[in-house]
Order: sequence, then C-alpha cells, then structure tokens
Amino acid sequence: SIRVSPGDTYEKLAQQHYQINPTSREQFQKLLEENPGITQIVYLWGVQELKSKDNLEIQTVQEQSCATVLHLVQAIINSKPETIPKLWLVTRGTQRVISDSEVINPEYGSLWGLGRVIAQEHPELGCKRLDCDPNLEQTQILDSLVAELLSEDVEDQIAIRQGSRYVARLVQKPQQKPITSADQPVQLKLSEYGVIDNLNWQPMQRKTPLANEVEIEVAAVGLNFRDVLNALGLLKDYYAEHFNITSAEQLTFGFECAGKISAVGEQVSQWQVGDEVIGLLLHDGLSSFITTSVEYVVAKPKQMSFNEAATLPLTFLTAQYGLQHLAKIQPGERVLIHAAAGGVGQAAVQIAQLAGAEIFATASPSKWEFLQSLGIKHIMNSRTVAFAEEIMKRTAGEGVDVVLNSLNGEYIPQSLAVLTPKGRFVEIGKIGIWEKEQVKEKRPDVSYFPFDLQEAVQQQPGLIGQLSEELTQQWNQGKLKALPHKIFPSTEITAAFRYLQQAKHIGKVVVEMSQTFGEPKSITAEASYLITGGLGALGLEVAQWMVTQGARNIVLTGRRAPKETAQKIIEELETAGATVSVFLGDVSQREELANIFQQMQALLPPLKGVIHSAGVLDDGLVQNMSWSQFTKVMAPKVQGTWYLHQLTKDFPLDFFVCFSSIASMLGSPGQSNYAAGNGFMDALAHYRRSMGLPGLSINWGVWASAGMAASLAVQNQQRMESMGLSAIEPERGMQALGSLLSESQSQVGVFPVNWSQFIRQFPGGQKIPFLSDFISQVPSLTQKSAFREELEAAMVSDRHKLLTTHLRLAIAKTLGWKDTQKIGMRQPLFDLGLDSLTAVELKNRLESSLGTSLSSTLLFDYPTVEALVEYLANDVMPIDFSSHLDQTEKALDEEDVVADGSSQLSDITELSEIELEASVLQEIEALEKLI
Ligand SMILES: NC(=O)c1ccc[n+]([C@@H]2O[C@H](COP(=O)([O-])OP(=O)(O)OC[C@H]3O[C@@H](n4cnc5c(N)ncnc54)[C@H](OP(=O)(O)O)[C@@H]3O)[C@@H](O)[C@H]2O)c1
Repeated sequence: SIRVSPGDTYEKLAQQHYQINPTSREQFQKLLEENPGITQIVYLWGVQELKSKDNLEIQTVQEQSCATVLHLVQAIINSKPETIPKLWLVTRGTQRVISDSEVINPEYGSLWGLGRVIAQEHPELGCKRLDCDPNLEQTQILDSLVAELLSEDVEDQIAIRQGSRYVARLVQKPQQKPITSADQPVQLKLSEYGVIDNLNWQPMQRKTPLANEVEIEVAAVGLNFRDVLNALGLLKDYYAEHFNITSAEQLTFGFECAGKISAVGEQVSQWQVGDEVIGLLLHDGLSSFITTSVEYVVAKPKQMSFNEAATLPLTFLTAQYGLQHLAKIQPGERVLIHAAAGGVGQAAVQIAQLAGAEIFATASPSKWEFLQSLGIKHIMNSRTVAFAEEIMKRTAGEGVDVVLNSLNGEYIPQSLAVLTPKGRFVEIGKIGIWEKEQVKEKRPDVSYFPFDLQEAVQQQPGLIGQLSEELTQQWNQGKLKALPHKIFPSTEITAAFRYLQQAKHIGKVVVEMSQTFGEPKSITAEASYLITGGLGALGLEVAQWMVTQGARNIVLTGRRAPKETAQKIIEELETAGATVSVFLGDVSQREELANIFQQMQALLPPLKGVIHSAGVLDDGLVQNMSWSQFTKVMAPKVQGTWYLHQLTKDFPLDFFVCFSSIASMLGSPGQSNYAAGNGFMDALAHYRRSMGLPGLSINWGVWASAGMAASLAVQNQQRMESMGLSAIEPERGMQALGSLLSESQSQVGVFPVNWSQFIRQFPGGQKIPFLSDFISQVPSLTQKSAFREELEAAMVSDRHKLLTTHLRLAIAKTLGWKDTQKIGMRQPLFDLGLDSLTAVELKNRLESSLGTSLSSTLLFDYPTVEALVEYLANDVMPIDFSSHLDQTEKALDEEDVVADGSSQLSDITELSEIELEASVLQEIEALEKLI
C-alpha cells in the first residue's frame, strides 16, 4: 500500500509515501503510472482533527477534497487500468445521523455531493462514502474503518456512530400536523389495541384548570415502557378495573412531560403563566395541553432544554427515593444497579456516583462501552445470572451493600445472595416480584424495599416536593445531569414507540411535541430579509412571496445590475409598499459581502432572515471537468455560504435557508461541481443547527418556467420529464418554503417525482439502497381481513406462497423494516430482532389479518417463517392449503439468495436492554393474570 499526502509539488518522500498537489491532474496520472495494480483507494484527508473553524481556509479544504478526488478519478479513467480500483471517500462528522450536533466538519459536505455523481457516472469505481464517528479520536476510528473496507455489501453511504453502523435512506417526510397550535390542540390516541401503527394524533379540547390545578403547554414527553404496554393492549384488564377504561379509544398516553404553564387555577400562587415546568405521574402527557394538580408539577432546571428536562422526573425521583430515602446509600458502599443503561438505571448511576458509592452495573453487552465511558469499572452481563458469581469474586466474597433491582425470575434470589449481611434490597419492578415473607425466608437479615412511586406519593403527601427539592438543587448545580436520550418529533410518534419497544435506546426516548415551540417564524414588516442571487428567477419569486407575507424590507443581491424583468418586479414590489434595496457584490468574496452587510446595518431594520439563492451552473462529465469549472460553480455555494454563515452568526436570525438542489441529495450525472457545492450547503445547515443557529437546506427539484431550469434547452427539459422529474410550480414551491420555515428539519428535498421512472434511468437502479423505501413499498396491513379474502379467493396451489409472503411482510413491518428479502425461511425470528414485545405485536397483527385468534406463545412455539407457515396452514386456518412440496422447496431456494444479508442482520440487531420489562414479559401468557 502507498500513502499520499498533500503538498505543492510531486515527490516521493519515502518508499511508500508520496506527496502530491491536489490541483494537478497530471500528478495523479503520474502517481498511478508509477504504482500500477492499485485495487482500493481510500480518501482519508477528510478525517480531520477537530479544529476551530474561525480561520478555516475553505478554498484549501476544497482543493484537498474535491480537486483531489476529481483529479484522481480522471487519472483512473485516463489510465484505463486492468483492474479498476474501488474508491472510498471517508469523512468524519460531516453527515447527520442521529442529531445535528454530529456535524462538526461541514466543509467536507462537498465531497459527499461529488461522490454521489461519481457513483452514477462511474459505477465501475464502486464509490462509497463513509462518515466516521466525530466523538472518537482518530486512532479509535480505525477498527470500524477497516471493517467497512473489508465489507462487501451494497451499501454505499455509511456512517458509524457510537459503535453502530448506519446507512443512508431517503424517507418521505411525514405530513406535518399543527401539534401545539392553540387553535387545534391534539392528543395521542389509539384506535384499536394491539398494533403500534394504530396510534394517531386527534384533536382535543383544552380543559380549564380547577382551583388547585395548572394547565401546561407540553413541549417534550419522556416515553415510558408502560406507554408501549398500553398500546399493545397488555394492560387493558388492569385499566378497565382501576381506571374504568374499557376501550382503546379512551386511553391516553404519556406519564411525564416538560413544558410551559399556560393557565393557572384560582388558588395557585406558586406558578405563573409562562413558567417552565416538569409534570409527572400524568396519564395524558402526549397532548398539546394537559391539566394537572400543582402537586405533580416541578420547576424545570433552568439550563436544561425541554427535551432534556423530559428525561428527568420519573427516572430520578424513582432512583432518588430508592437509593437515598429507602436504602440510605453511604459513601464507599457498594451498590449493584441492574439494567444500568436504562432510564432509572442511568439516574441511579448518577445518584450513586454523587453519593460516593462504588457501582456494580449490569447491562447487555452492546451497552458496556457506554457504561465504561461513565467511569463504571464493574460491568456485567444482564442477560445471564453469572453476575452473582462475578460480584462475589470481585469483592473477595463480601458482596454489595445495596441492590437496585428491576429484573425478576432467577435474578431475584441471585441478587439477594450477593448482599452483605444486613444489606438493602430496593425493588422497583412490579411484576413477578417477591413477597416480603419470601425475602425474609431467604435472607432474614436483609431490609427489603419494594415500591411503586405512584403509590408512595399517594401515601406520603409532600414526597414529590421533598424529592424534587433535593434533586433540583443538584440539577441546577450540574451535579446531576439530563439522561442520554433520543428525540423523535411528534410527527414520528410510531417510530418513537417502536424504538422503545425494541429497546434500542440508552437512557430515555423523548417525544418533541412541537417543532414550532417558542416563537413562530413569521415574516414581519419590522425586519429586513436578505436574498442572495435575489435578481435571479427564484430570488425574485421569493421576494414577491415575502412581500405577500408581510415583509417590507427586502435586500436583493447579485453581481450584475437588475435586468429589465427584475427591474419591473422591483417596481411592483415598491408599489405594494415594500422597500427593495439592491446591493451589488459577489457572495464568494468576503470583503464584498461584508460591505453589503455594512450597508444593510447602516440603512435598514435588523436582519431576520437569509435566503441564499446565488448560484451558477457549468455542467460537464467528471472526466472532462476542469478544476476551474468546479471553482466557478462552487464559489457562491461554498465560499458564499460560509461567509454568509460567518457574517450572520451573531445575528438573532429567524431563518437561514440555502437553496440547494436534488443534485446533491440524489446525484445528477453531468453536475459533479454543482452537486459538490450544494452538498456543502446541506452539511452547513446541520452544522448551524448544532450551534443553535437556524439552518435549512432545501434540495429543490426543477422549477417550472424560471431561472436555471428555464435556461436549460427544451431538449433538456424533456430529458428531465423522461427521468420522472416534473417541474415545481412556483406557487407550490413557495407554499413548501413557507411551511418549512417554521419546521425543525435541517435538510429537506422538495421535488415532484415518479420514482419507478426515476429509478429506471440508473443501471442497476432497483438496487440503489438509498432509495429502497421507494422501490419496495410494503403494502399496508391495516385492512383487517383483506388478506384472508385474498387467500380464500386464490388458487389452492398459490396459497402457501401467499401466506409465506404475507408472514414476511408482517414480520418486516413489525420490525420496522421495508425489506422482506432479509427474512430467511429458517432463520430464527428472535435472531432478527424480534423480542417478547415485538412478538406480541406480530401476533396481534397476524390475528387481525388472518382473521383468527392465535396463542400468545405463537412466536415462541414456531419461531421461523417455515414453522409458522406450516403451523398456520395445517393447524390453524380453516382453508385448504394442500401441501405442495415443490412450493416449500421454492421458498427455501429463495432463502439461499438472501442468506448473506440476513446473517449480517442478526449481528446488527440490538439486544433488548430494558431487562426489567423484557424479562417481565417472558411469560406473556401469565402477564394479565399477575397484574
Ligand atoms: N431553478 C431551478 O430549477 C433550481 C433547482 C434547484 C436548485 N436551484 C437553486 O436555486 C438558486 C436560484 O436558482 P435560479 O433558478 O433562480 O437561478 P438564476 O436565475 O440563475 O439566479 C441565480 C442568481 O445568482 C446570482 N449569482 C451567481 N453567482 C453569484 C455570486 N458569486 N455572487 C452573487 N450573486 C451570484 C446570479 O446573478 P449574477 O450572475 O448577476 O451574479 C443570478 O441572478 C440557485 O442557487 C440554484 O442552485 C434552482
């Protein structure tokens, strides 16, 4: 292997080390000639150490990234090597996976845009993009990098985060609903028990608070496992008995929330409208507004966001009550915390650490690394009871002073056994827990504290006040922190439930109720708005739209004076009452842009919004593209956006919108330079959000009758149509812009497309993983007995196959997958990620689609597709399936094809973490009886 570093001249620095000038195509040619037979090229200059971006030399970075890759690809094409090397583009913290805060190196975003076009124009290079974990040191990235380089799968846009591998998928943006709009408040409801997809937001009535109540406008909700159990209908008898809730429609969700007081009852003096609070022990937190007794309201720690605050109440109050009030944990004591990566577990870890105790933690192995990062030394597997032996070994036979237990079955006696004489056993589990007598029999010396927070609070008025006072002090001083959490917008509520159900999380799952919580992003007459490229087609469209929205001060910039049509529109806008200022200058020249800002500041009201619409095209194939063609097209998009970002970063803007293109989202043959420029803007929008600044990149499709698209020859426009891309009508485009301005996404594509036509244009298009959501649509299974009818209507010989396909679809849907091909006939479903809870959902799903009732242990008894099909066909369905051997064989043949994919899947599937609940549910049959 050889290593190559950037420099001014071409030099061989050592035996296997070269220096090269990124802007010289010839030097790359020379490099390849001197080193024939290269099979893999890994671009690693994008894996930068974290540096301050204040003095970022954006031009140099683009040379070292895009110019290098451009010239490298050209050299490969020209040298026509016998074996064509595979190309990897590696960056770090350039793509957003879990949150915007991961995007720390946006300057390499251009490389991802370029890579997408290379992949299309030169599929033979198998160009793959990999974004490494920004939270790891350079040296720690190596393992995952090597694993990727050796992997053979079809994924070409990959990211590594916290040891997990993520792949890019384009998804349809969920329909935005006005979640906390005062005009139309909503509440989460369930249409029917059993399947998480039955959850939906319904309009609700606000309730005036009674004398001692407050109303809270909910901003964020911490999900609890009980929410999932409720949706699945596992607690329905309990709810009927205790709360008189006899149907799914009556049920509400959400036990804790963070938000702002929106109304107070007559006797409430401690809270005022606008106070930021936390609500706990609720039953309807997943609502725009809730009304609750003041007793269940606690002040939100000031420095925490609503999302962070939503992770606190139930977890910390439970852990504080258990460890401090009941067990009275002391410095230097040893405490065993089961399921330590879960919500209560995480709060307990913090409380025990603060108390100076020594922690022994259990968790499933996939979460050990995380626990280690918290400084916990003794970490054991929560999936076996071997922890007991391990603890005795590590403590020289002494054991632990306190156990915080949440597991049941064999875990209870084993945990009791590791207690020191007179130890304390705090039990926060509810189902399958031991009676006091049982504990006494086994360990008479031990103090046993089973409790339920809700009951404790009811029995001890003032307990919440006391606990929250103790905790608030620590939260405000930063001694106790918000738990790690994963946020889902309320529009993705089913994904949030599913995520919790599959126990993929560490800490908490939080639902962000409103994406517009806080000030609405309206356009006002008192502010100024800057539109770069404002004299171009879309810029003028936006200006006109803004004036209709109430803007009165618009700044349009461009390098050249307005043409006649632009002048005419400006006059019309002025007649309509707006002041339109035209400032000429090049956005890619920092001084010229700074000069425009000086003029704006001197003459106009404060700047509140930026629409960055400056851009030029200069198309060509990668192999013919010159670097100057690149710099020309990238200048307004890369330098221009960077300088705009720098010059506005201290302004309190309402929005900062980049007019990007589908070229950087989907690739666009012939537009590598344009895709690179737009790719930078996409990454920058995430980066800005990570800094708490507004940022939005819109990947527009082609606009009708305007600007760049209109300047395309008619022939080209027809080409677009034939590719399945139709034009955006200005009115629809502006509507989209308007709604996106008040939402929280950082990057959204807006384009009318016919997917099957679009995909057809690419060789092997059906296999583009990024678009797989649009290729294999899993049909909806919500129609109750449509499948049963279909099955009955089918020829007997076809039924077996139909049932098999149906089962695979149902399994995929339950696991949240789109692709049924990964489900092998004989593959144990529990290896694919099915667990006791998803098994309940799958059973429910099958019951309704097959129109028959099934045993709760169905999936445990028949844990493969093959076994299920046989059982359902032979023993359950009252339909003739007359067994056809050849059909079964055919199904098995298919399995060979998918074997590779499925074996990998079992590796990446997370094991269930909430051992508390998962183990409780091992005996699903017994559950309802026990509650
Ligand atoms: N139209 C579409 O179908 C479409 C689709 C997807 C994305 N977009 C994006 O939307 C934006 C606007 O497109 P459009 O159709 O309105 O294009 P347009 O009519 O060509 O307008 C672009 C404007 O940007 C100005 N500009 C270019 N480079 C500049 C620089 N360095 N400094 C300052 N101004 C500069 C140009 O004026 P001067 O040359 O006088 O400077 C021009 O008036 C572009 O960024 C484009 O990438 C457009």
